Amino acid sequence: MRSLALGLALLPSLALAGVFPKDSMVKMLDAKDFRKTMKANETSMVAFVAPWCGHCQRMAPEYSKAALGLHPLIPFYAVDCDADQNKRLCAEQGVQGFPTVKMFPRGAQHKPIPFEGERTASTFYYFVTRRVPPSFTKLPNLDDVLPWVERTVSKTRTLLLTKEKKVPLLWKVLANKYDGKLEFGTHRDKNGKTSESLGLEAGEKKDSKVLVYSEGSTAPFRYEGLNKYESLVKFFDSVVDGTADITVANAQAKAEEYDPTGEELEIERKKEAQRMALLHGGYADLVDFEQAILDGAGASFHDSNGFGSQPPLKKKSTTATEEDKPAAAAEGNVPDAEESKVGKDQTEL
Ligand SMILES: *[C@@H]1O[C@H](CO)[C@@H](O)[C@H](O)[C@H]1NC(C)=O
Repeated sequence: MRSLALGLALLPSLALAGVFPKDSMVKMLDAKDFRKTMKANETSMVAFVAPWCGHCQRMAPEYSKAALGLHPLIPFYAVDCDADQNKRLCAEQGVQGFPTVKMFPRGAQHKPIPFEGERTASTFYYFVTRRVPPSFTKLPNLDDVLPWVERTVSKTRTLLLTKEKKVPLLWKVLANKYDGKLEFGTHRDKNGKTSESLGLEAGEKKDSKVLVYSEGSTAPFRYEGLNKYESLVKFFDSVVDGTADITVANAQAKAEEYDPTGEELEIERKKEAQRMALLHGGYADLVDFEQAILDGAGASFHDSNGFGSQPPLKKKSTTATEEDKPAAAAEGNVPDAEESKVGKDQTEL
């Protein structure tokens, strides 16, 4: 490898060619960005790569798909360890072979977890989504809600009433992000009984409600903005830094219309295509599938292209893990059907 690396170093255009495609959601970090990013307390993935590394190039499309699927909840990054300014960082991170992928559960606050599974999009996806630190209190019963509200009265807290059985990924990610600043509770309000007991309407089948309790108060305040990551972050930021009275912040959140930029629309379109491709049998040929959607032939794409209808995640992948060190058996990589949510939009509550 060394001689190959030296050889390529003589060809700057090749050596500089990115491992990740230009439109990838994977963001390249240099050592300075890395340290800054790690201060944000977010759950993220970081791939330590080198431009000449073939395994890195083979991993790139899969890593990018997982990055797209989890945008904006869990950012995916990469560090070029060949660049002089990153060499110290890569050494500190114990990088000995490429690619080395690590999950950072909460920025620099928690020890990173090495990723040792197959480098496929769904394995990355499940590896990271299952390891977001649980920084919320689960309140299984109606009778658990009020005692929690009273017990935590000295803090500002937020409670999610969800119809879903599982705690939504978005809520887990937010609870981790605001750990130490806001208390997070989550309660399954399957048929709206809890909502009614709190003086709210039961709500439609899929309705989620986000309530906020100010420090010292046991009266719920209903958030009325969009149940999306960006909107909730904006709202919680203003709650945490106290720049806005909650009532004012809420009025602003409510009035806020979702006005995506062209870039966001493009990301949304790609995510939708990826979700549909997943629902229809796997991560194969997404580009063709996207094109088919653009051409208006998306609905019949799988009939004409012959993807199986079997859920993608039950299939055992045949791609062997190739690394320059032996890969440990990836623990918990085959999710059960209940958890097969790659194809689901996880960015809303
Ligand atoms: C990150 O977490 C630590 C400890 O919980 C906290 O002191 C710090 O303010 C947090 N940083 C950000 C940017 O939220």
